[in-house]
Amino acid sequence: MPDNFVVTPWRVEGEIDYDRLTEQFGTTKLTDELLDRLRKIAGEDHFMLRRRIFFSHRDLNMILDSHESGKGFFLYTGRGPSGHTHIGHLIPWVFAKWLQDRFGANMYFQLTDDEKFYSQNNMTLDETRGFAYENALDFVALGFDPAKTSIVIDTEDISTLYPLAAQVAKKLNFSNMKAVFGFTNETNIGMIFYTSLQSAPCFLEDKPVLIPLGVDQDPHFRLTRDVAPKLGRPKPALLHNIMVPALGGPGGKMSGSSGGAIYTTDDPGTVKKKINKYAFSGGKADVEEHRKLGGDPEVDVSYQYLRIFFEPDDARLRKIHDEYRSGSLLTGELKGILIEKINTFLARHQEARERAKDRMGEFRLAKN
Ligand code: TYM
Repeated sequence: MPDNFVVTPWRVEGEIDYDRLTEQFGTTKLTDELLDRLRKIAGEDHFMLRRRIFFSHRDLNMILDSHESGKGFFLYTGRGPSGHTHIGHLIPWVFAKWLQDRFGANMYFQLTDDEKFYSQNNMTLDETRGFAYENALDFVALGFDPAKTSIVIDTEDISTLYPLAAQVAKKLNFSNMKAVFGFTNETNIGMIFYTSLQSAPCFLEDKPVLIPLGVDQDPHFRLTRDVAPKLGRPKPALLHNIMVPALGGPGGKMSGSSGGAIYTTDDPGTVKKKINKYAFSGGKADVEEHRKLGGDPEVDVSYQYLRIFFEPDDARLRKIHDEYRSGSLLTGELKGILIEKINTFLARHQEARERAKDRMGEFRLAKN
């Protein structure tokens, strides 16, 4: 049977079957054993591991070996600045912050203003550069260590990136790009070259790299991993998170272009309106039926947002789950819990984001 979902770096549609996706992409599911090893070395658990929000990887064992051998590793992740940051983007970044804290690793954060200029018909380079700055504020607001973190902007830091991108570009050909991304003769040549730029930060240090990222970005690094040995460099290791569903779910991904995203810049009234109006409900048609039959937390987008990000406490999440399932908790009440959680998070985040405005210089690659 053909799969009813599509996952590419530029498009995510349908209800993703993560077991099937793991097979399609050729990645490896995180086993209990590997998670135990990670937790033991980190000295702490993280709810995103426990709940399999991070569900798959490439070569995580190699990274832990390198850490234990004393060689260490560095971290890398990124953002294509096509608009404001939404909750989905924060998943790999929040986890990357935890990894930096636990392992003391350097972090590179790439902002691909060129990529979004190439891939979005309606955006100027000035606009994508503007959003690169806006998105960088969200990244800094999460509390990364400025002494160990560098923000890399493609159009501004190209002299550092270009020699590395050139090494990669020489080992990739047009048919590789067509096979992985479905490009055609009409695809602009910026897009065709672009994977070499997203690969470049993998080679900024003479150590293996670990990349926490949404699984939609895996195809770029599949190519990087093919190229790395040809350059005499270690393959980048990856840790994949699931896609936060679109507000109107149950499938798809939260995305600015398909509407229905909660942005880090939203005010409390906007969050309330969006959740109440658009969040896909696993509840029943009316209160009476809901009380009798209960709701379905698996498809309920509000519940999923709590599970993925906003309710790290397992006991509290379990209570919400069970009460919704039994019908004692109504959809409106569940939405109320989520709205409160999001607005509490955003109030703090927006303050940190304001403070980040004076601190950008500390994080720019050029400081080094
Ligand atoms: P971008 O801007 O599409 O997304 C930034 C990061 O957020 C993840 N993501 C999501 N995660 C969960 N739920 C969602 N709904 C969701 N939407 C996006 C993405 O997987 C990504 O990790 N080309 C990249 C920018 C980039 C990059 C990188 C990303 C450059 N270098 C290295 C990861 C690692 C992009 O456009 O990401």
